[in-house]
Amino acid sequence: MKKIEVGVLGATGMVGQHFVNFLQSHPWFDLTWAGASDRSAGKKYREATSWRLNGAMPQTVADLTVQDCKPGNAPRLVFSAMDASVATEIERAFAQAGHIVVSNSRNHRMEADVPLLVPEINADHLKLVPIQQKKRGWKGQIVTNPNCSTVVLTMALGPLKQFGIERVVATTMQAISGAGYPGVASMDINANVLPFIGGEEEKMQQETQKILGDLRGDRVEPLPAKVSAHCNRVPVVDGHTVTVSVALSKKPSAQDLIAAIRAFRGAPQERALPSAPVQPVIYMEEENRPQPRRDADRERGMAAFVGRLRLCPVFDFKFVALGHNTIRGAAGAAVLNAELMSAEGYLD
Ligand SMILES: NC(=O)c1ccc[n+]([C@@H]2O[C@H](COP(=O)([O-])OP(=O)(O)OC[C@H]3O[C@@H](n4cnc5c(N)ncnc54)[C@H](OP(=O)(O)O)[C@@H]3O)[C@@H](O)[C@H]2O)c1
Repeated sequence: MKKIEVGVLGATGMVGQHFVNFLQSHPWFDLTWAGASDRSAGKKYREATSWRLNGAMPQTVADLTVQDCKPGNAPRLVFSAMDASVATEIERAFAQAGHIVVSNSRNHRMEADVPLLVPEINADHLKLVPIQQKKRGWKGQIVTNPNCSTVVLTMALGPLKQFGIERVVATTMQAISGAGYPGVASMDINANVLPFIGGEEEKMQQETQKILGDLRGDRVEPLPAKVSAHCNRVPVVDGHTVTVSVALSKKPSAQDLIAAIRAFRGAPQERALPSAPVQPVIYMEEENRPQPRRDADRERGMAAFVGRLRLCPVFDFKFVALGHNTIRGAAGAAVLNAELMSAEGYLD
């Protein structure tokens, strides 16, 4: 199979570097184009980028000349990791010009005709794409993935949806890498907890309802559950931990829930997509797991981990969830979305 050429908008930034890393040796996609601001355009990627990931910058990308983020010479499929202050206009311009924009930015996630995908849960929301194209008169399209803490919560809740989710309280312990680079000042985060991440709680609440919602005709009906999020930054490098309490209408047992988590599979697994974890949500029996340092990297950072599922005296159950915020919460999520879109004919 001939590989599909892809580009990355915002390739020089933190999430852009994760795209570059994640797309190395991808069996379907060939990264041939890197875009960034006019501060970087015209330079070689190696000169424009302060490489901040473990391991060397991939050689194939190091020699690319960084381009302006303007539609025209970019491949049809582009991943977006641009600064949110510019993503709205630039992503729209690319979609209008016929590009398929698979975005990690928050800008378009909550628009009614834009799919917000966790493909194990709501692959059918891709049916919004033709509606979006018709409504906006675009040949291209925008598809998004959720915020890095939302993805952990929704992957944990996905297997529980069948039991009727009524109320959710989620408290995060979010890694420093989620704040980009240089992120939070070391004087603030060392041996400390920051009990505020701007806009994060609202994003978690709204995005969760959209992702777990049902497609009805040309719109997504949000999950009619109350979701309350508390978001905290903690001195962890990678991996967002979320403690969750949930009320369920169909009073299952703890064993029912653990069995549902273990049996849970979605479109990426059915289609054996290259970046799909074999088991998207892994239940851990140990009483002190999952932990970010020990577990976030497992399954190439693409699975979510759940543990400590037990009765909750206030709601019905409580548990701990964990996921890799810059892989499953950013670049890996977008690449998995594009793989699903390719498998379902959205890139034809
Ligand atoms: N950090 C995370 O873990 C994380 C997780 C989930 C989502 N996100 C989202 O992902 C996006 C990127 O975050 P980040 O942490 O990677 O930010 P970042 O490191 O600041 O990178 C921003 C990127 O946007 C480019 N850019 C800035 N202005 C531009 C313009 N006018 N035209 C075109 N490109 C422009 C930058 O290019 P230059 O190098 O040329 O300035 C750079 O490549 C944001 O929307 C963020 O909310 C981040």
